[in-house]
Amino acid sequence: MPKVKGFSKLSKEAKIDWVINNYFDNPKENLALLKGYWHGTSDIQKLHDEFIENTITNYYMPFGVAPNFLVNNKIYCLPMAIEESSVVAAMSKAALFWLDRGGFKSKIISTLKTGHVHFTWEGQDAAILQRFIEEIKPKMMSGTHAITRNMEARGGGIVKLELIDKTHLEPHYYQLKGTFETCDSMGANFINSVLEELAKILRKEAKKSEYLNPNAIDVIMCILSNYTPECLVRCEVRCAIDDLPDDTGISPLQFAQRFVKAVRIAEIEPYRAVTHNKGIMNGIDALIIATGNDFRAIEACAHAYAARNGTYQSLSHAEIVDNQLVFTLEIPLALGTVGGLTSLHPMVKFSHALLGSPGANELMEIVAAAGLAQNFSAIRSLVTTGIQKGHMKMHLLNILNQLGATEEEKTELIHYFTEQVPGHRAVVDAFEELRKRLKDS
Ligand code: MEV
Repeated sequence: MPKVKGFSKLSKEAKIDWVINNYFDNPKENLALLKGYWHGTSDIQKLHDEFIENTITNYYMPFGVAPNFLVNNKIYCLPMAIEESSVVAAMSKAALFWLDRGGFKSKIISTLKTGHVHFTWEGQDAAILQRFIEEIKPKMMSGTHAITRNMEARGGGIVKLELIDKTHLEPHYYQLKGTFETCDSMGANFINSVLEELAKILRKEAKKSEYLNPNAIDVIMCILSNYTPECLVRCEVRCAIDDLPDDTGISPLQFAQRFVKAVRIAEIEPYRAVTHNKGIMNGIDALIIATGNDFRAIEACAHAYAARNGTYQSLSHAEIVDNQLVFTLEIPLALGTVGGLTSLHPMVKFSHALLGSPGANELMEIVAAAGLAQNFSAIRSLVTTGIQKGHMKMHLLNILNQLGATEEEKTELIHYFTEQVPGHRAVVDAFEELRKRLKDS
């Protein structure tokens, strides 16, 4: 494979030339492909070019909406950026179902985030280090004021600073743990800036200390934690058993009982829990991406939270209480509605406007509802018709597009497959047969 030096300094055109000429036998076609995904010389293209390094084109994903979403007595139309064919349809179906049954009730449990200065201290008695940290805390608070001032004006800032002794896990390893409130921002830059300033103060004060060996402290790194179990939201739906679906071939009570059992299986069986939670994340990630939040952070945190009791478990829970099905989701969601991409990416701005420009807490409430809705739809299908029926219907269009079907062929085949399972082979066969028939006629 070819090597290149100084690639990032090349012009966009030169980068493209290098890629298509070195990796493709048909550079012309690939150039046309890359250009087909461009916004020409527009400001939007320039914006996208500058989000990352080495941009050579854009990568499109479908952007859909799921209307009728009743969360805390307010109806939303959810923006969803996702490529998986059945997700938006499942979301819309769940939204409509719960619209007539009180909707989703979401509640913020807490909104705190953490970050750490990870350091080693070569001393013996942790009580001495503790005394030192307590002594320098006022300096830490005043020394970071230039960074925290604006956040404090918005009601946030540093909530707590603590020394954590981790020497039972690793010799001499301690943490200065910061707890933060970052209001409507996701807060990564804020937290990391504060932590780096705290580390400077720690080093400087250690050097001045009369009782702490000045060279005994070594700051290893300063970084926020994407594990945010204290930035937590809980969402619930509930309805009388009699109001559960009755079009599924089983009675509403059987439906409720199977539903609860299916969630229980995801609570005790990690193999099932991962797929179950993946379904929840189908709904969550689509909104996270549409609203310009960091889906990697949200994913990493959700799965760590799912494993908080020592085994990986379902993030949702279902039970029958007083003749009602009660279905809940508890999930940490460190989201932002200001900063980052939110004021830059035109589609992200559109998504926030579509949601009515919510603050971070309201967005947490909506996103949790999207996760629960998606999970409801998946389990509803799993315990009744099975998942393939809905999935394959949505997949049919993808297969037909791959085969290059015309609009006329698509209409006919979609009609044909209303009564047949559209497996890949079956679709190809039906398509070839239809094309031959149309050609011969
Ligand atoms: C597919 O993307 C998601 C599901 O597998 C989730 C589930 O099994 O609960 C349908």
